[in-house]
Amino acid sequence: MASTERDILRTELRWAVVVAGVVAVIIVVIVASSLAMALHPPSGVERIDPATLHLEGEFVEGNLGTQVGADGSVTARLVAAQFSFVPRCIAVPEDQRVTFRVTTPDVIHGFLVAGTNVNTMVVPGYVSQVSTTFNEAGDHLMPCTEYCGLGHSEMWNMVRVIPQSEWSPDENGRVTCEIPG
Ligand code: CUA
Repeated sequence: MASTERDILRTELRWAVVVAGVVAVIIVVIVASSLAMALHPPSGVERIDPATLHLEGEFVEGNLGTQVGADGSVTARLVAAQFSFVPRCIAVPEDQRVTFRVTTPDVIHGFLVAGTNVNTMVVPGYVSQVSTTFNEAGDHLMPCTEYCGLGHSEMWNMVRVIPQSEWSPDENGRVTCEIPG
């Protein structure tokens, strides 16, 4: 009887070591990938009133799109709403850090730029911010990745990466683009 209990205890300890090993491997993978591949959760919590964001402040329609600041920083602002992103085409420069700032007046949407590490949720009441650098000119599809209603599958945008030689902000620091067709 006593030896059986000892056997059970030994088996339990053995499996506890196996589980601890698996957890350790998972932690190493998370830390290594976040350091080496810049995979990380979205930045700090920033609140916004979803009922008035179109009336005043940063996300009024005239302030959406890409803007180059006085310090040369590039910021692209978007509103995600059922069932489109505004504006539809986002122009960004090649080989330069770009910060996306996105919010929504209605429900949860997903913000993903295909082929990049840009992937975040857009939650009513909050501003989602994510930065990246595009190293190759060309178009990226930007689909909504969170089911947001009947028009979800039609909700997508384009991000157009423009070569430095063709990157020319206007007098207000604005750069726009259009989706052909
Ligand atoms: Cu917006 Cu799905």
